Amino acid sequence: MSTSLPAWQDLREHAATLRGTHMREWFDGPDGQARSDRFVAEACGLTLDYAKNRITVETLALLFQLADQAGVSERRDAMFAGEPVNTTEHRAALHMALRAWPEDGYRALGVPVGTDVAAVLAQVERFANALRGGAWTGFDGRAITDVVNIGIGGSDLGPRMVCRALARPGEAGPRVHFVANVDGSDLAQTLARLDAATTLVIVCSKTFTTLETMANAHTARDWFLHQGVTQAGLARHFVAVSTNREAVAAFGIDPANMFPFWDWVGGRFSLWSSVGLSIAVAAGFDRFRELLDGARTMDRHFAGAPPEQNLPVILGLLDVWYRSFLGAGSRCVAPYCEPLELLPAFLQQLEMESNGKSVQLDGGTLEAGSAPVVWGTTGTNGQHAYFQMMHQGSQLVPVDFIATLDPVSDLPGHHTKLLANCFAQGEALLRGRTADEVRAEGVRDEALVPHLVFEGNRPSNTLLLQRLDPFHLGALLALSEHRTFVQGVLWNINSFDQWGVELGKKLAAPIQRELEGAPAQPHDASTAALIRRACRAQGMVAS
Ligand code: F6P
Repeated sequence: MSTSLPAWQDLREHAATLRGTHMREWFDGPDGQARSDRFVAEACGLTLDYAKNRITVETLALLFQLADQAGVSERRDAMFAGEPVNTTEHRAALHMALRAWPEDGYRALGVPVGTDVAAVLAQVERFANALRGGAWTGFDGRAITDVVNIGIGGSDLGPRMVCRALARPGEAGPRVHFVANVDGSDLAQTLARLDAATTLVIVCSKTFTTLETMANAHTARDWFLHQGVTQAGLARHFVAVSTNREAVAAFGIDPANMFPFWDWVGGRFSLWSSVGLSIAVAAGFDRFRELLDGARTMDRHFAGAPPEQNLPVILGLLDVWYRSFLGAGSRCVAPYCEPLELLPAFLQQLEMESNGKSVQLDGGTLEAGSAPVVWGTTGTNGQHAYFQMMHQGSQLVPVDFIATLDPVSDLPGHHTKLLANCFAQGEALLRGRTADEVRAEGVRDEALVPHLVFEGNRPSNTLLLQRLDPFHLGALLALSEHRTFVQGVLWNINSFDQWGVELGKKLAAPIQRELEGAPAQPHDASTAALIRRACRAQGMVAS
């Protein structure tokens, strides 16, 4: 039990001693500079400034003791060794092998995986090159201009986010689109813009049974046929990414056009596998490989750096500090970088599906609170929406600011404004503004003064990437994965299963049948009323 570890108890007491201390005392005191120098760490072209956190040297020492007592290094080593760290499914969690070099020698449950990984990567490279170069054509011989990735969750969010992050104006290659939702408007709007003869669909699903993906894939196939693509010609317009060869064949996709991956790759950790096919198509295989290399560099950092310099360890510890000891129920992710606009959604799945659990590895209940709500949008947009709450609201919301040192856009003057705002928000959250400062700024109306006071003492990390290229993005994403893993170890939970998604899926099937006319089944009164309303709206029952 994590909560019975001596360091957990010490941290509880220590948290109480910090209550009433304002971070600006630490910065204004003689140790302000030392604090800034000490609470910074760098790796893989990423710099983490974590000085604006409610921590002291003693807090950090206790957190490292917690990491030690919880067995972070041992569990990390077990994960890298391909042991069955996904205990409920008896699987390895070996996404690091997907970005490895042959000499890294990864094994999943003792079986070497390097050869299989290299073979699939080569298949991805060949196909991406053929599509981008026009060698792979549609049924009538024309080159493919548009690729639609149909997938959801981990088979959508990662590649969609990376494609958005790496897209640059005027790039060569097919346009890549993403369809996830079973709401038909998603697929319909996408297909309405496309010419079937020059469109290719990637049906991307680990299981190849996911309701949304299979519904969209079937509808897309009908669309191709209606648009004049011949039954035989469909083979030029559909490929699959999956672990389920039988289901892919049953759908009618030639297994030769299937890009496999393996059960030791969790959906939310899968963008590095053939799930990243859409990335290789959109950005080119070389840039996909650079993404993998950035992630591999972060893997090596996580595996080898001492805890005091280890970015995933530091961030995972801070996350648990805020959630379990200071009671923060959410964390805001604010990328000051428009191409990273989908990063918060990706991190939501990564952290909340991995660690949104209340049961520990031994089946006992976790009393300390686990994954906070992860949310956010890009800066500066968020400043004009919800930052009010972060500055003057009643909740503690730690923030991760993410920015790049080199500009992404070459429009003059924009990047300095962007960075200035990013840094200013962190400074404002930290310092706040006292009533005396408000008065010193010339405010005479005493009734107004309390409204202009900012409490401050609101924590943030600032993570700076040298630039937004595939390498640094890969490092950032691998950092996020390992940070999530560290949180899970500290909470003593299995970060690699997701049983919590099952019940809703199970209950949806009989409700769908009722909405399609089957006799009513027993439900709670509220759900039964909703079903009746929906049936009435479809004219299925008298109103
Ligand atoms: O329902 C949740 C989930 O299983 C995610 O974990 C996964 O990423 C997503 O659905 C999609 O699953 P699949 O790739 O099997 O279609």
